Amino acid sequence: MPVIEVQGLTKTFRVYKKEPGFRGALRGLVRRRYETVTAVQEVSFQIESGEFVGFLGPNGAGKTTTLKMLSGLLYPSCGTARVLGYVPWERPDGYRRQFALLLGQKNQLWWDLPARETFALNAAIYGLDKAELDQRVVELTERLGVRDKLDVVVRELSLGERMKLELIAVLLHRPRVLFLDEPTLGLDVVSQKVVRDFLREYNRQAGTTILLTSHDMADIEELCERVIIIDHGRIIFDGPLTEVLERYADFKLITLRWDSGAVPPAPARLEALGQITELNPAFVRLRVKRDQVIPVCKALLDQFPVRDLDIHEVPVEEVIRNLFSRRRSPPDSGGAS
Ligand SMILES: Nc1ncnc2c1ncn2[C@@H]1O[C@H](COP(=O)(O)OP(=O)(O)O)[C@@H](O)[C@H]1O
Ligand SMILES: [Mg+2]
Repeated sequence: MPVIEVQGLTKTFRVYKKEPGFRGALRGLVRRRYETVTAVQEVSFQIESGEFVGFLGPNGAGKTTTLKMLSGLLYPSCGTARVLGYVPWERPDGYRRQFALLLGQKNQLWWDLPARETFALNAAIYGLDKAELDQRVVELTERLGVRDKLDVVVRELSLGERMKLELIAVLLHRPRVLFLDEPTLGLDVVSQKVVRDFLREYNRQAGTTILLTSHDMADIEELCERVIIIDHGRIIFDGPLTEVLERYADFKLITLRWDSGAVPPAPARLEALGQITELNPAFVRLRVKRDQVIPVCKALLDQFPVRDLDIHEVPVEEVIRNLFSRRRSPPDSGGAS
């Protein structure tokens, strides 16, 4: 049975629309004008126990709004959701004890206290006893390398240190379902890797079901086999990450190496077969339309003193970026926002 079941979930916000200019502002005082923004539109998906799913989409796509509904912070306008059998926005106590939400751009730790004190407060809320709390804190701070940061006032910590402690704060009660909204945003590369490795291990060991949003494709590639892609509030893809490439990557990359003694191929002759993305004395890399890969390889082997030839996918990062920019600017419309 799926742990998360979402059916037709929709959220609209009513937002005050400013009219341009001073007159507009005056008029706005008399009669407020509202417009409806549909943040999430008929979203449906299911997630099985223990899955680690990436939730992707450009800014404003509706990711945070969806996670907030699944965490019971927002009521949907329409649709249903069950997480661990609970309806999140009914805020049942049983649910509160079994899930956690980490909003990367928002502090959950008390700014003026050391993390240890926030942990104690959280432990009290969740009814963990002192021994259990201490053991959990030791284990998690050790794994995230922040053992010595527990007694530092949070405002004095680096972003990376703080994020690791935020993560610990939401894990103290051993949630079975974890929603992570941009947990690595703005972190230095080292902290980002620590957090990423930790999450991978944690998911494997504890079997926690995780739904993660991240702008960093390296996070997604390393952690998530499955991705759900949302744009303008609607799901446009749900499936294995590898299938995203098959479906949306129009090109493949071919790397060609030649013998050290050989004369490198003339760039003009290579250009005829594909777009050169990298060229140096040892190898060349060509971007080639997917359906041209086989004939191009054949031509390369026929024409050049090839020692080695490699075919690989373009980076996911690029595929996703292209996917969204294509959707942003459809050829038949100039006014897409
Ligand atoms: N409280 C709110 N009031 C009005 N509009 C909102 C509110 N929260 C989000 N939105 C709008 O809903 C859309 C989706 O936002 P969000 O879920 O934050 O996207 P994402 O997390 O994918 O960047 C955006 O257009 C955003 O401006
Ligand atoms: Mg967001």
